[in-house]
Amino acid sequence: MKILVVGSGGREHALVRKLAQSPEADRIFCAPGNAGTQEIGENVSISANDLPKLTRFAKGNGIDLTVIGPDDPLAAGIVDLFEAEGLRVFGPNKKAARLEASKIFAKELMGAEKIPTAQARTFSSSAEALNYCDKVALPVVIKADGLALGKGVVVVHDRAGARQAVRSMMEERAFGEAGRRIIMEECLRGGECSVHALVSGKSFRMLATARDHKRAHDGDEGPNTGGMGAVSPADNWNAERESNFTSSIMQPLLDGLTRNATMFRGLLFPGLMITDDELRVLEFNCRFGDPETQAILPRMKSDLLPLLIATIEGRLENVAIEFDPRIAVTVILASGGYPGKYETGKPIEGLENGARLPEVQIFHAGTKRQDRKTVTSGGRVLAITALGDSVTQARERAYAAINQIHFDGCHFRHDIALCPAHT
Ligand code: AMP
Ligand code: GLY
Repeated sequence: MKILVVGSGGREHALVRKLAQSPEADRIFCAPGNAGTQEIGENVSISANDLPKLTRFAKGNGIDLTVIGPDDPLAAGIVDLFEAEGLRVFGPNKKAARLEASKIFAKELMGAEKIPTAQARTFSSSAEALNYCDKVALPVVIKADGLALGKGVVVVHDRAGARQAVRSMMEERAFGEAGRRIIMEECLRGGECSVHALVSGKSFRMLATARDHKRAHDGDEGPNTGGMGAVSPADNWNAERESNFTSSIMQPLLDGLTRNATMFRGLLFPGLMITDDELRVLEFNCRFGDPETQAILPRMKSDLLPLLIATIEGRLENVAIEFDPRIAVTVILASGGYPGKYETGKPIEGLENGARLPEVQIFHAGTKRQDRKTVTSGGRVLAITALGDSVTQARERAYAAINQIHFDGCHFRHDIALCPAHT
């Protein structure tokens, strides 16, 4: 089989590595990929958002399966385009991807199906939103309706900050059309958990859970990022929560989508907040998480390729999915300054030495090859994953590998999987 993975982050490197291990996989391409995907497969220099070029590439090269990594091409309808050309593709179509691409659509669906989530109000006029800033309970969470590269959510603690966020999203259009409408919702406290499940219409199969670490610095300090590390399975998950999740979130969601004539096929990753024993949905993601995937896939014993095809073909009931019970800890190495401004082009040393350590896997994110060297090319540069029988062992292995790796300005969190989940 010829496989194409769309995207260029650590998640895509993890997908490429896992899919390449399948006995069914012959050739694997990644568009546009990074220095890591290039070592396993063939990078194709097409942007993940250039839908017509990606479609032409898949058709022209006889690609048997395309797997979409990021949210933007899903929201733009890449799956609809591929399917119209008779191409097999993993991911939800444009209508189903609204679950992530419109937070208001997701809120309305959760409201209709009584899925527990934060109380929220929706605004399409900045005057009304600014008015509400005067009386809303603080802190409040303000969210752009659409996709904003993970930056469209702010937690504000005072009225001036709330007004500033509303103006920036709705009037200055900091995130373009994504901020035409906004949500203001109650701020939930608790521990977050990323659940990953394969969904095909009304059936679903759990893959695994992970706990992301969103803040830039140790002790959950500093600004929000795309994710600075993860631990899988999530240390705030158990069988009781899973059963509660199935009955109060997953089943009603799939019923609601069916009632809306929306066929979801792909990976669904609800982001949850857990308070005492209550689970509430923060958001639905319609794709694999990053860095969650870099912690989840190294634990997956089953071949991923037939699972993705079974999802597309609606045969999820019959597949076996097996995970390594050990713990995976993933630590992100980021460029100095990330998530703010950072420099790129810094040579990376020690990758081979790090990767040689036991139970360690290194995934590239913002890297590229330049003058026969691997150099940094993005904010999140590498994801270092290690498996262990305990959190302590997995952490020791991951941080031992990190000790081998150097680039100018590298920063990372020292407390991944240690920082408490708050529940
Ligand atoms: P979202 O894109 O909706 O997941 O938001 C990104 C991040 O913002 C989440 O992972 C949380 O850390 C935080 N967040 C979102 N909604 C809330 C909320 N209602 N209460 C507290 N934190 C939130
Ligand atoms: N790590 C969070 C996300 O992928 O959305």
